[in-house]
Amino acid sequence: MNQMTSRRAVVRVPSGPRSIETVTVPVAEPGPAEIRVKIAGAAINPVDLGVAGGVFHKLGLVHQPDYTGLGWDFAGTVDAAGPGAGLRVGTRVAGFIDGFDRDHGSHAEHLITPAAHVAVVPDGMDLVEAAVVPLNATAAAQLVDLLGEPSGTARRLLVTGAAGVVGAYVAVLARDRGWQVTGMARAADEPFVRGLGVDFAADAGQGWDAVADAGALQENALEAVRDGGRFVGVQPASRLPEERGITIEVLFARPDGALLASLLGRAAAGELPTRVAAVTPLDEAADAYQAMAKGGVRGRIVLVP
Ligand SMILES: NC(=O)c1ccc[n+]([C@@H]2O[C@H](COP(=O)([O-])OP(=O)(O)OC[C@H]3O[C@@H](n4cnc5c(N)ncnc54)[C@H](OP(=O)(O)O)[C@@H]3O)[C@@H](O)[C@H]2O)c1
Repeated sequence: MNQMTSRRAVVRVPSGPRSIETVTVPVAEPGPAEIRVKIAGAAINPVDLGVAGGVFHKLGLVHQPDYTGLGWDFAGTVDAAGPGAGLRVGTRVAGFIDGFDRDHGSHAEHLITPAAHVAVVPDGMDLVEAAVVPLNATAAAQLVDLLGEPSGTARRLLVTGAAGVVGAYVAVLARDRGWQVTGMARAADEPFVRGLGVDFAADAGQGWDAVADAGALQENALEAVRDGGRFVGVQPASRLPEERGITIEVLFARPDGALLASLLGRAAAGELPTRVAAVTPLDEAADAYQAMAKGGVRGRIVLVP
């Protein structure tokens, strides 16, 4: 019997989008509490550009002997389930895998992942659309948890990068938690940001009770926080030092299937945006990464095997 094979996008010596290649490997079987997903769509995120560009190799976080697998986000269908996984073959799921030191990723035909890290995609929600939600909605919800509750009159929150995928989710989720949210974005993004139901600013300004730095502006965003305020960054490798009594937190998104289930439900209900900028075949991953690297993409490019 021929063994089933699967294609995946990888980098051997990471030096940007042009170093991406597709390799074919035997399909493995899921272990206990794991599922194998036949991927229908996998978004390209900024972190993927970092992996392909060797950022995390240079930080000493990758030790793969042959190649490094690309891709975090995915949506697809369970095509094999290990003992105790609790998900039937054929179930539509979405999720993300984290970590840098791996020879596999979601930019592939198949992926094996813990069943607890995925959520069932709501009926009627397209899998390509679902593929843009997991990492960034989870990250946004976990960022808003780090931000904590607004208190008394201290509820003025600036979200930088509010037209970005993480920023838009943070804006909506923080508003729901009682923050008085202003989204900072490029001038052309004002209609989108206001459409989220929050205020708009073209500049960071100063004196905010809290800043959620989804635009990764770092020091420039920290400057906008009032003395004794709160700041949550998105770059764990470049945590900012404390200053002026500001509470500083940094996000490191972790898979959480139960949380993702509620976020997918909100996305399916139209309460969270699902912006698919383009759909590109997996074999053209290098071109898609190149397009993403140019900047200005709103939403996500989704790779389809
Ligand atoms: N730590 C974690 O666990 C975690 C998880 C997810 C994401 N992240 C990080 O979070 C960040 C955002 O991710 P994302 O997926 O939301 O990226 P994205 O969709 O590219 O959004 C970033 C947004 O910020 C905007 N921006 C950048 N500089 C700006 C400026 N000076 N003024 C106004 N807008 C500005 C960008 O606009 P332009 O395109 O016009 O520049 C873009 O709209 C990335 O750094 C990502 O790596 C971290």
